[in-house]
Amino acid sequence: MLKIAHRGAKAYEPENTLKAFQKALELNSDGIELDVHLSADEQIIVIHDETIDRTTNGKGIVNTFSLSDLKSFLIDGKCQIPTLNEVFDLVDKKCFINIELKGLGTAAKVVELIEQYISEKNWSYNHFIISSFDWNMLEETSNLNPNIPIGVLTEEDLDTALAFAEKTKAKAIHPDYQLLNKENVQQIQEKGFLVLSWTVNSEEDIQKVKSYKVNGIISDNPDKI
Ligand code: G3P
Ligand code: CA
Repeated sequence: MLKIAHRGAKAYEPENTLKAFQKALELNSDGIELDVHLSADEQIIVIHDETIDRTTNGKGIVNTFSLSDLKSFLIDGKCQIPTLNEVFDLVDKKCFINIELKGLGTAAKVVELIEQYISEKNWSYNHFIISSFDWNMLEETSNLNPNIPIGVLTEEDLDTALAFAEKTKAKAIHPDYQLLNKENVQQIQEKGFLVLSWTVNSEEDIQKVKSYKVNGIISDNPDKI
């Protein structure tokens, strides 16, 4: 059962910050999950929303700011918005990284960065899995480099997600845990895909999803898994 820290260990530190990813490592997470957008100068920025309004002391759309502008805003009065490189360097192969592509244009930039860490810093493909609700971006990822593991995110329809996973030779399906039961988890696994379910936080839901024998759980509190 893989323990995957959602946006870092979001229950304990501000989401998608180096502090949250450090906490996830301290909790012995097998993986971390994070979200990415591009800045105006095409740097890969780790942030969930399209805007900085909810999580920082600033206001505006992420892709209208340069990286240096984005660094001037604070999260929870103390943390800066990290780049994906900074997270890779912090994690330093201690766990795998589930990169969820949110912003347009992120697929090609993320593929490029992964290839750089594999060729120059001795990382391997198994240190990464790219997921997205935008399946066009997953297709783009797979076309750019079919060796990069892909996770098909869905909150609606498992059958369509399975068909897409077969087409793109994905590694995993990432379903909203509320779609799951023992039978459909087994069916997905029999077709050769991992089931990494999200976002499972309460003790009760964690126990229920574990009883379905999923391969991994993405949680704000990975220590409870
Ligand atoms: O990757 C699973 C989960 O993170 C998807 O939802 O909104 O938290 O990015 P969200
Ligand atoms: Ca996410």
